[in-house]
Parts: sequence; structure tokens; C-alpha cells
Amino acid sequence: MSSNPYPLGLRLHGRRVVVVGGGAVATRRVPALLDAGADVLLVAPELTPALRARADAGRLHWVPRRFVPEDLDGAWLVQVAVDDPMAAASVSAVAAERRIFCVRADDRTAATAWTPAVTRHGPVTVAVLGGGDPRRAMTVRDAIRDLLAVRVAPDGIAGRPDASTGTTGGRQTGRVALVGAGPGDPELITVKGWRLLTEADVVVADRLVPGLLLDELRPDVELVDASKIPYGPSRAQEEINQILVDRALAGAFVVRLKGGDPYVFGRGGEELLACAAAGVPVTVVPGVTSSIAAPAAAGIPVTHRGVAHEFTVVSGHLAPDAAASLVRWDALAGLHGTLVILMGLKNLAAITATLIAHGRSPQTPAAVVQEATTGTQRVLRSTLGEVAADALTADLRPPAVVVVGDVVGALDG
Ligand SMILES: C[S@@+](CC[C@H](N)C(=O)[O-])C[C@H]1O[C@@H](n2cnc3c(N)ncnc32)[C@H](O)[C@@H]1O
Repeated sequence: MSSNPYPLGLRLHGRRVVVVGGGAVATRRVPALLDAGADVLLVAPELTPALRARADAGRLHWVPRRFVPEDLDGAWLVQVAVDDPMAAASVSAVAAERRIFCVRADDRTAATAWTPAVTRHGPVTVAVLGGGDPRRAMTVRDAIRDLLAVRVAPDGIAGRPDASTGTTGGRQTGRVALVGAGPGDPELITVKGWRLLTEADVVVADRLVPGLLLDELRPDVELVDASKIPYGPSRAQEEINQILVDRALAGAFVVRLKGGDPYVFGRGGEELLACAAAGVPVTVVPGVTSSIAAPAAAGIPVTHRGVAHEFTVVSGHLAPDAAASLVRWDALAGLHGTLVILMGLKNLAAITATLIAHGRSPQTPAAVVQEATTGTQRVLRSTLGEVAADALTADLRPPAVVVVGDVVGALDG
């Protein structure tokens, strides 16, 4: 007689799952249950802070006492997450009596159900059971996860399951994902962004996206270099919008890969509106923005306890006195916190002079971080009064972020 487990995908939405125990094991198990929509009843005299936070937020019901058999009324599944074998055995005895499957953290041979090692890849869930050996299960799971991350072909296991979502004029419509690529280090793209990139038919990339990400695209992917599109800034943007819409309407899955975050001075909003107007579905994947990552890469936290309770991100691409400027530099000068200026090198002398003229001290620490998180990163530390001249002397060039505020020295020993 085979003793192989029989794999199932439990659809737990709205169904009662009882977790007995409130320690480390429960802390690890509960999130996946909540993610599956389970109605979680947690029975434990004490909870870890993470579980307590979920209970306080109303995400689960907590009964602050030891287990009693009535706790299993209406349950579909029990997870026993206590160390004490006697207590665990008594819960699983009640579960068996009631024909409720029971997962036991303390003794898998006594359990009637095992939890697999899991990797999720969009809508695909891969669950691995290692014949009772959790390490084996995790090793196999990790290998599959790596394969899925790196080698997802359009017709492969993960495919492009969410890429096609409708029809336009009888044709299958593709879709667009606006993906933040992070500030420069290719490892700073998000897991979701990376997955979508590996699934793309067309990638429309900005000048500032990490080149190494593009190196790893499948050879059959059409790569459009958006920085090479001629015409001025607004015409070029129209061209990019048109490329996104045309390719998607032709059925392609288009990833619009943008430096940092798509919505931080990234014109992602315009692209989303253009796609929406053409009936093309869009997914937005936020990215690690240079406005936070560049200071961090230079050892500067944008906030720090007792130093700065706010940070403001501002574009310096227009001079403070430019008619089209939307920035109240006079008001910003009155803030005590951190000012992060993007695209500000060209106008730095005028910007710093305006801030000082409106009351910010010229002694305020300031820094410039060029090509942050890349192998060619440069950092200049100075003061508000001197930074423009120092940046010129050091021949700093875009892309660079300017940080103004006491946080600049906050982590200095
Ligand atoms: C058009 S904005 C795009 C910002 C981007 N969406 C983000 O969230 O980081 C371009 C500006 O971002 C900043 N920037 C982008 N990448 C950078 C990097 N690796 N190092 C320093 N600054 C960077 C520079 O100020 C650059 O001029």
C-alpha cells in the first residue's frame, strides 16, 4: 500500500482554519493562510508581536487561552504550532475524531496533512513535499524558483498567464506593465518587476535603467531604446505612448522599464493614461526610487530619529525663477527636514541661493550622489552654501541627487 501523500490545493477563502500556538511557527504559517483568505482562529495564551499586530488589525480572531475541543467547531483545517507534544497530541486527537485534517509542527509522522515548501510565480503556485524531509523540499523548491525566475518562456510553465486580458476589434489584446527598474544596481528591481521582465515580448527601456537587466532578456524580445527616439521631450513621449499602445493592441505583452519608480518624475502617469484611453490594460510595478536609494547608498538616511521628521522630494529641472516652475522654493526653505533634489545639478547655484535667501542656513549639510548604487557612484559632501561650487569643481554630472539637511551627517561616527 502506498503511503505517498495526495497533493491538493486547498481553497480556504472564508473557511475556518484553527491555528493552535502563537510562537515562531505560527508566525510563519499564518500569513499564507490569510493570503488564501482563510478565516483564521488563533488559540494561544500569548502571541508574538507580529501575530499580535495582525490580531489588532482584525485580520484574524485571537482567543487568548489554551486549546479546548470546541475551538474546532466549524473548522476545515487545523495547524498545531506548539512545542509541547502532549498538547499537540490532544489537539490532533480532537481533530481526528472530527475528521479534520491536522498539520503538526512538532511531529510530522503524527500529522494527517503536511505543508509543502512553496514558491509563487504570479498565478502559478509550486508546492513541494520532500517525503517528510523539509530540507529536501526546500532545496527542490529553491531550484524550481530559480528556474522560473530566469527561464520563463512565453509558452513555458509560467507563460504569460496574465498577459492577455481582452480583445480589441476581434484581436487578442496584450497589455502593458510600467515597471520601476530601480536606481542603477540591477539587483534593486523588485521580484515582481523582474518576473514581468522575463515574460515580456517587448521592452521599452529608458536611458537610466540598469543595462545589465537588458543583457539578460531573451534574444527574441524586441527591445526599444526610448532614449533614442528623436524629437523633443513632448513629441518623444507621444511616440513612446504610441509604441506601447500599438504593440499591446497587436497582442504583445509590453514592459515599459523605467529608472527608479515609474511615478517619481518618470512620466508613468502619462503612459498609463494613454494606454487607458486606447483600452489597453496596465499593471504598475513600483520601483526603488533614486530619491531614497541614492542618499541611502551614500550612507544618508532621508529621515533619522531626532534629526528629520520629513523629507521632501523635488525636481530641480527648472530654475526657481522659471515661469513654468511649480515649486515653492521659498516655502521649502522654511522646512527643517530633508530636501532631496532630483535633476537639480544644472540649476544648483540658483536653487541653493534661493533657499538661503529665504532663510535656510548656508551651513546646512548637503551632499551630491552621482550614479548611485552603480560601480561608478560618486559622493560629494558639502554645505548648502558651498555645494553648487563644489559640485562644479568636482565635475559632477547627471544623474545625480542632491540631499540637503542634517541627515547628511546623521550616521557619521
Ligand atoms: C527623470 S528623473 C527619474 C527619477 C526616477 N523615476 C526615480 O524614481 O529615481 C531622473 C533623475 O533621477 C535621479 N537619478 C536617477 N537615477 C539615479 C542614480 N543612479 N544616481 C543618482 N541620481 C539618480 C537624477 O536626479 C536624475 O536626473
